This record gives sequence, structure tokens and C-alpha cells, in this order.
Amino acid sequence: MSNTETTAVDKGEKRASFTGRIGYVMAAAGSAIGLGNIWRFPYLAAKYGGAVFLIVYLISVYTFGYVLITSETVIGRKTKKSPVGAFRHFGNTKAHSFGGWINAIIPMLIAPYYSVIGGWVLYYMFSYMQGQVKELGGDNAFTNFISSGTSVEFWFLVFAVCTIAVIFFGVQNGVERVSKVLLPVLVVLSVVVCIYSCTRPGAIDGIKYFFIPQMQNVSWMTFVTAIGQMFYSLSCAMGILITYGSYMKRDVSIEKSTTQVEFFDTLIAVLAGLMIIPAVFAFYGNDASQTLKAGPSLMFITMPKVFGSMGFGMAIGIVFFLLVFLAALTSSISLMESAVSTFQDELGMSRPIATLTYGGIYIVLGTLSSLGFNVLGNVKLLGMDFLDFFDFITNSVMMPIAAIAICLLVLRSVTLKGVEDEVTYDGAPFRRKKVYNFVVKYVCIAFLVIILVSSVLNAFGVIHM
Ligand code: PHE
Repeated sequence: MSNTETTAVDKGEKRASFTGRIGYVMAAAGSAIGLGNIWRFPYLAAKYGGAVFLIVYLISVYTFGYVLITSETVIGRKTKKSPVGAFRHFGNTKAHSFGGWINAIIPMLIAPYYSVIGGWVLYYMFSYMQGQVKELGGDNAFTNFISSGTSVEFWFLVFAVCTIAVIFFGVQNGVERVSKVLLPVLVVLSVVVCIYSCTRPGAIDGIKYFFIPQMQNVSWMTFVTAIGQMFYSLSCAMGILITYGSYMKRDVSIEKSTTQVEFFDTLIAVLAGLMIIPAVFAFYGNDASQTLKAGPSLMFITMPKVFGSMGFGMAIGIVFFLLVFLAALTSSISLMESAVSTFQDELGMSRPIATLTYGGIYIVLGTLSSLGFNVLGNVKLLGMDFLDFFDFITNSVMMPIAAIAICLLVLRSVTLKGVEDEVTYDGAPFRRKKVYNFVVKYVCIAFLVIILVSSVLNAFGVIHM
């Protein structure tokens, strides 16, 4: 489209915005805190060195994470556009257009399969509510569930409707309002489950395992996975924070907000580690460290076994899956918000039309992922089912490329001075300026290339992560 420059904003319509810092922080933290914190973080930490993983993770949040959140927010707020328009604002070249589109397409591809997993979580939550504690802890419960195309599709649609409804209500009434309520509830529920887990007999060994360095598990992969996890967990390099930045008012401090988002996201990740690792130790005793390596199935297979064998199984099952559901919902809202915003800005659609149009694509792609374990079980892409394929292509391939595009945009077009001007616009000092400049100039791109190459080699079986 040649007239894509004429967005709603250019036409003089007011762009939606968050009410203030709390609104932005709650929405961005809601995006960041999700399935990544609750099932991915604890199992990676357990597998790759416990406390060492945690330290590498924290350092990378403070350096890379900080650089990307700040850069994306700055780019969004400066241009008041979603990713495509934001990149184009700095130059009308093919490279700018590529950088913008890759950032815009990632959330469009993640939202559908992420919501399929959201549907699984809903199914578990409702099954616990119906008292099926023993059934869910059974050996084949999970496999039986995902091999039924109708159930998986049904729960995906329920989750999808929840997400679409919030987006329909807009930025302040939908995204911001929902995140403001859900985030505090999430923190409280996490603390409840954590206390439950950590007080089971035998749990202390799990706490030690999580906080004491396991040097025999430390390897090169500790670094690669910790940094990769950090990007995923903070929702970096997915165009989301550019979109959210574009809704941020200019009197809000970028640095303060960024720090708070980092804090909340890390808090929930650590709490999740304390929910899962001690419970697994309490249940499996000496076999716990082996079980923890099960990874992805931990949340849907191992945790229900743990709940099924301990007191208050039903109540804690409900609370745990409710908490995971809320975390997943605010993340999927952010994914869809970013997608819808691109449709509004680039195709000049009104919000309801953009929501319905993207909603259609989302349901189709989500259905492919839902049916990939059953009806479409024979269809494989690069040897993966649909869900794994979408996960791989977005997180392992496109995300590092999108992050490189952001760093290049900062270095070449926005300039470090431009970043500083935007960060200090409200009069606040740019405290971590030295860290920012150093990391964006010398470290980020090199590490992103390493992550990209390692994950691709891993997918093709050349190395094992
Ligand atoms: N950050 C989310 C999590 O930890 C996942 C996510 C990734 C959400 C990308 C939005 C975009 O689960």
C-alpha cells in the first residue's frame, strides 16, 4: 500500500494510551509474566545448573533485557506507531521494512499456539474444579486429553474468546484494566502455592537444589539457554513493547517502568521455581533431579501427580492452574494487541474490524496447532508438529533476527543520543546509560547471533541443548 503512511494517528485521530506509569507497567509485566515463567524457567534452571543459571539469568535481565525493553519502548514512544510504522519512521528502505515486519509478524504467529496451551491450562483448571484430582494425576491423562481433537479445540476456543473479548474493549478499558486486576491476584496466588510447596515434607532438598550452584550441570548451554529464556520471558523482540511504548505517555519515566517490569517478571519466575522444584523433590525424593529434566511435560504431567498425592490436592490444583491461566491470558492479550495494532496502523482498519480480521487468522492457525496432536498428527514440518514448529520458528529463528534488527535500528537510525533524549524526556536521569550504550554497541548482536546459530543447530540435531 502506498498510502500506508496515513495511519489513524496522522489523520488526527488520537492514539490510544495507557493512563500512566502503573498502567504501562502492569500491562508490560502482564505480557512478560506467562507460561515462560511458570513452566519453562523452573525446568531450565533445574537442568542447567540451579543457582548458576539463576545468576546468569539475572545478569542478562539486567543487561540485554534492559537494553531491549528500553530500546523497544523508546522506538514505540518516539514514533507512536506499531512496529512496521515505527521502523519506517526512520527510513523507507527495504531493511527498515524487513525489520518492522519481522517484529510485527512474530506475535501474530505466537498468539495462536500460545492460546492452545492456554486452553490446556483451562481444561486442567475446570477438571480440578470438578474434583478429578486422581484422574488428572493418572499416567495417561495428558496424552489422552491432547489426542482428542474436539476437546483441545474446544478449550482453545474458550481461551481465544477470553482474549478477543479483552482486545475488543481497547487499550485502557481492556488491556490496562484487566492487567491491573490480574497481576496482583497472580502475585498473591503464587505466594500461596509457593508456601504450600515449600512446606511439604522433603521440600527443603528442592530449595537447596534451586539455590545452590550445581557445577556439574554448568556448561556453555547454561549461558545460551539463560539468555534465550530471558528474551522470551520479558517478551522482548516480538514487537510487543514497541506497541506498548507507542501507548505510553511522554511524562512517564521509561527507566523506572523498565526496572519494575524486570522486577515483577523475575519475581514470578523465582516464585515459580519455588512452587515446582520443592514439590517435585517432596514427591520424587532422590529421583527428583531426573524428573525435573522432563521439561515441558512438568506442568501437565508431573505437577498433577504431585497434587494428586498430597493434602489439599483439589484446592491447590485449582489455584495453581487458575494462576497459570491468568498469567497466560495477560500474555496472549499482549500478543493479540500487537497484532491488531499492526492491522489498524498498516491497513487503516477500525479496531473492531482489525480485531475480527486478525481474530479469524488466529483461530485458523490455532486450530492447526490444536489438531496437530490428533487429527493432523501425521503432518510434520521439519519433523515437528504444528505447535512445536510455530514455537521453534518464532522463538528460535525469528526472535533473534528481530532483536538484531532492533539493535541495528538503535545504532544506525535512532542513535544513542536519540535514545537518551527520549529516556530523559520527563526530566529523569538515565542512570544505566553506560550499561545501555556498552551492551547495545558491543555485546547484544554477537550474543544474538550465537543464540540463533545454537538453536538452529539444536533443532537439526547437530548439538543438544
Ligand atoms: N513472556 C511470555 C512468557 O513468559 C511469553 C510471551 C512471549 C508473551 C512473547 C508474549 C510474547 O510466557
